[in-house]
Amino acid sequence: MPLQKIAETQAPIHDLIGRRWSPRAFLNLPVETDKLLSLFEAARWAASSNNEQPWAFIVATHDDPQNYEGMLSVLVDFNRGWANKAPVLMLALAHTQFEKDGRPNRHAYYDLGQATANLSLQATALGLTTHQMAGFNPQAARERFAVPEGWEPVSVIALGYPGDPDSLTETLRQREIARRERKPLEKFVFEGAWGHPAPIAGSV
Ligand SMILES: Cc1cc2nc3c(=O)[nH]c(=O)nc-3n(C[C@H](O)[C@H](O)[C@H](O)COP(=O)(O)O)c2cc1C
Repeated sequence: MPLQKIAETQAPIHDLIGRRWSPRAFLNLPVETDKLLSLFEAARWAASSNNEQPWAFIVATHDDPQNYEGMLSVLVDFNRGWANKAPVLMLALAHTQFEKDGRPNRHAYYDLGQATANLSLQATALGLTTHQMAGFNPQAARERFAVPEGWEPVSVIALGYPGDPDSLTETLRQREIARRERKPLEKFVFEGAWGHPAPIAGSV
């Protein structure tokens, strides 16, 4: 049975945000094309500095084994060990230079993060799940997928339907069922000066 790990919150949040989490177990089930398209549509409508939309995604699905194996090959061993069950893998890239004049775009990573957050929440809404990974080799990804200068491979995202934790190795199963942890609000919501918890955050 897929696991639900709903966020334990200090204040009410939208159900979708509470239900999103990052599993490592996936069902052996392809993701429908129309659903995949909806995820990128959700990413498309993220806000971005100057409406630059400095993001791109390179997709690999189980249906195209050569392309999929290429994506797997850029992952670190630990991630490859579980992500090879995800029916879809995608490389997320940020355009770190403005299109019009090539100046550095300081907010490219911020904007890509917003797009991938949209994508992840849309996945949750469709019964799918995402697991983002920093554990991959950006240089290998650049070469494998002919990424041009000015674009930075930032993460690989595993996507699919959530699977049974019992399908994992025992070590990963333990991590899968572990309680979700977050810093309390007063550790990062300040007022007046750095490090002074905002009264609204301290009072919950
Ligand atoms: C940018 C980014 C990189 C991550 N890299 C990895 C990774 O390489 N391997 C992994 O197993 N999980 C990775 N994660 C998943 C995080 O560990 C996970 O999001 C975090 O523990 C919070 O758990 P939750 O997403 O279930 O709420 C990454 C998440 C993000 C957003």
